[in-house]
Amino acid sequence: MDCFQITGGVPLTGVVTASGSKNAGLPLMAASLLCSGQTRLLRTPRLRDTETMAQVLVSLGLECSWNGGTMEIQGGGGGGPIEASYQLVRRMRASVCVLGPLLAARGQAIVALPGGCVFGQRPIDLHLRAMEAFGAEIEVVHGAVYAKSPPSGLHPAEVDLLGPQGTTVLGTANAMMAAAGIDGRSILRNVACEPELLALAKFLVAAGASIEGLGGTDLEVIGTTTLKGVDYEVPSDRIEAGTLLLAGAITRGEVRVEDCQPSDNLALLESLTDCGVEVEQGPDWVGLRAVGDLRAKSVRTAPYPAFPTDLQAQWMAFALTCEGRCQVVDTVYPERFMHVDELNRLGAGIRRQGAEAFLSGPILLSGAPVLASDLRASAALVLAGMAASGNTTVRRVYHLDRGYEQLEVKLQQLGARVKRCVDEQSP
Ligand code: EPU
Repeated sequence: MDCFQITGGVPLTGVVTASGSKNAGLPLMAASLLCSGQTRLLRTPRLRDTETMAQVLVSLGLECSWNGGTMEIQGGGGGGPIEASYQLVRRMRASVCVLGPLLAARGQAIVALPGGCVFGQRPIDLHLRAMEAFGAEIEVVHGAVYAKSPPSGLHPAEVDLLGPQGTTVLGTANAMMAAAGIDGRSILRNVACEPELLALAKFLVAAGASIEGLGGTDLEVIGTTTLKGVDYEVPSDRIEAGTLLLAGAITRGEVRVEDCQPSDNLALLESLTDCGVEVEQGPDWVGLRAVGDLRAKSVRTAPYPAFPTDLQAQWMAFALTCEGRCQVVDTVYPERFMHVDELNRLGAGIRRQGAEAFLSGPILLSGAPVLASDLRASAALVLAGMAASGNTTVRRVYHLDRGYEQLEVKLQQLGARVKRCVDEQSP
């Protein structure tokens, strides 16, 4: 197992390029199940999760290969195997987004339940509710979802995707993909409107569906069983871009992230500005300069366009270095606080109560060995290690490799003293 060894205290400076988005790329790959011919996804990030999704698709009879940064997929749009096994699904929850396209394209799907998650319960009831609305018969037995269309086939429908926690990103993706693959007009209500879903909708439109209402709460989808593969560029990863910007801010550096979409990150950029960070942006870049005393700012995560839960942990690390008290609330995943105890090992002094964490800064973090628990928690620990005095070892960085393309190389480009090493202490 690899670990990162970090020597803190270096202000990051320079220019770095954002990669394609993991959370856009995964549903786009799943959507290729609906499309005949070849689907080419340009700028697909090369990560453990996209590799896992390629394995899921191959297990479903598709051909997937990398051509440089492009993922080429062939063999969708028709029959084939219908089971996404537990062996693959347990590695990555996003495998669940093959459910909608499999059902629409092949009339049946068996998808293992993704199971528990390190940051709490992550049910898929809303995905199933959507599939049932299209006429699918669903049974959950032996840890898997068995879904099949009725003898008359799936039909277009009106689907409401609102859940107790608000909207659902992959639930919306599943419903949108199923609707796009069913002949006729469906209405999807209370959809999530994350930029990754906009990318998926545009892909489905390019493939032959019609989707109206993008950016709003309701979508009208006119689907067809004759979707065709297209060339499509995966948008830039707003969470990676945000993480790199926070790396610049936490080390009081000057960083510019290129090939990103600043408008996707407005909540973050506004929060940084409120802290006193100087932020500049162009059409496809964001730069920041973090100098002097910065003021702590509370954030509350919620679905897009609010502050993203996927930057909550990294924000918390940064906020520790600012002056004053603040609160970090996660309304999307009230249990997503695995990083708190590890940040406390670096001297953070964070107090957690339910879905809220209370911080009081500025804290002079001090290096220590810490354990990564999930993808974004790992990123927060790397950021904290770069701001801490002395040396920090972040263990279990395989979590990080699920969703960041060569993060340590990008950080090194900015001057960070971060090394990937084999962890001698791993079992
Ligand atoms: N929820 C339900 N029922 C459902 C589905 C979701 O109650 O059927 C609840 C969840 O438990 C959660 C909330 O609704 O409290 C939102 O979950 P959502 O379904 O939106 O999450 P997701 O689609 O499974 C995606 C991202 C996550 C990101 C969330 C929220 C991908 C592959 N995953 O997950 O990304 O945190 O949206 O924005 O797109 C990450 O990249 O680190 C990551 C975890």
